[in-house]
Amino acid sequence: MPNTIILGAQWGDEGKGKIVDLLAADADIVARYQGGANAGHTIKLPDGREFVLHLIPSGIFHPDVTCVIGNGVVIDPVALLEEIHMIEREGVLVRGRLFISHNAHLIMPYHKMIDKAAEARLAQQKDGSAVGTTGRGIGPAYEDKFARKGIRIVDLLDRETLREKLRHNIAEKNELLEKVYGASELCDVDSIIHEYELFDQEMDVYITDTPLLLNRAIRDGKSLLLEGAQAALLDIDFGTYPYVTSSNPTAGGACTGLGIPPMAIDRVIGVAKAYTTRVGNGPFPTELLDETGELLRKVGREYGATTGRPRRCGWFDAVAVRYTNMINGVSSVALTKLDVLSDMPEVKLCTRYERTTDGKQIEHFTTDLRQLAAIRPIYESFEGWRALDMKGAASREDLPRPVQKYLDALEHEVECPIEIISIGAGREETLAAGSLV
Ligand code: GDP
Ligand code: IMO
Ligand code: MG
Repeated sequence: MPNTIILGAQWGDEGKGKIVDLLAADADIVARYQGGANAGHTIKLPDGREFVLHLIPSGIFHPDVTCVIGNGVVIDPVALLEEIHMIEREGVLVRGRLFISHNAHLIMPYHKMIDKAAEARLAQQKDGSAVGTTGRGIGPAYEDKFARKGIRIVDLLDRETLREKLRHNIAEKNELLEKVYGASELCDVDSIIHEYELFDQEMDVYITDTPLLLNRAIRDGKSLLLEGAQAALLDIDFGTYPYVTSSNPTAGGACTGLGIPPMAIDRVIGVAKAYTTRVGNGPFPTELLDETGELLRKVGREYGATTGRPRRCGWFDAVAVRYTNMINGVSSVALTKLDVLSDMPEVKLCTRYERTTDGKQIEHFTTDLRQLAAIRPIYESFEGWRALDMKGAASREDLPRPVQKYLDALEHEVECPIEIISIGAGREETLAAGSLV
């Protein structure tokens, strides 16, 4: 299988976990390249068991696949060890199959405290609203990384450096928590040092030089699946800033987050839902605040896999996905949750925006919040396919005629072929173009 990036083409939760797990059957390595435990990737195994992975790559359920957590990921040892124990209890072998970059940064307790305190402060301000983060400490951990204050996995192996860095950081963070955020609870240096010194004992077996591991695998002709978390519209550079996450889920993030060269990547699959969802705050042009939005949430079971929050729902936004396909050089789209639209009396597809001030039609997405606030979506309408069953279909051609019409239009609008169609959470509930899987 060609080396492939799999990334979210919308605002997250597109079903990346399902698609990575599906394609991992033909891969040697699955590697996560950014984000942290803010991700929630759901995998439904053929025996009916369902898992939500936050840090471990979605290839772990294929016994022959090696999993890598790259230097671009921010790792919460508490969440990671909990996840390892959880899947080990289910009979999955992790040791010897999971490798973690020695250069990945650690999430510390103060990152989570600052994340929550900063959000609470934003929510109180008159004009602004909070980002609606997952509270997993992601932003503050990346802040420290870029401010060159972060603590890396490799630091766990050197007690003296770890203690020194922690003492310095905790003193500074406590001052921030107390004086800026007015927090009543502060971090205790000794207990954090003790806690993190213990992590080294359990994590040691997983830590390695992952760029070396990956580049050797590339040299030896192994096939790599590079798993993005979050999504292109949550990207720190290309998303709807500041309502974004603090990393680069876009294709470039795979190179910097893993230490592999761009020329090693053969293709990029953009995962998109057949409609749109978003958790947290920020612009969402096709959001439906009516009973149709509620129906999508109910049928699609649109509640966050990490926080349980209800996801905001709306129609598919082809203007947005056209943009993310361009930014990422998406070679094909994996369209998920098409089955959810079967409950809709009518299905709509946003093909362009109209500027509310002068009625001008807009074909290109913008991340300028002021401009996004002054547009309304223009829709193409499709008859629903309520009574028509999709489950028996073996290929796209077997799908009911109205479904095919919707897919043809969507494909045309996003200017990219749809090569995987998902009609259920399970591996087998997938239609794929022959050569792909
Ligand atoms: P991710 O973060 O991109 O991996 O996506 P999530 O796991 O957060 O959310 C996707 C949800 O949709 C999960 O509950 C999946 O089990 C489920 N899912 C994935 N593909 C399909 C599909 O084609 N149809 C339906 N009905 N559910 C799906
Ligand atoms: P997966 O990988 C959906 C959103 C949060 C918030 C913003 C910033 O499962 O698709 P953060 O905690 O990252 O600082 O929050 O990003 N967000 C996600 N939304 N799916 C995710 O991951 C997300 N990870 C973060 O809701 O709006
Ligand atoms: Mg998710």
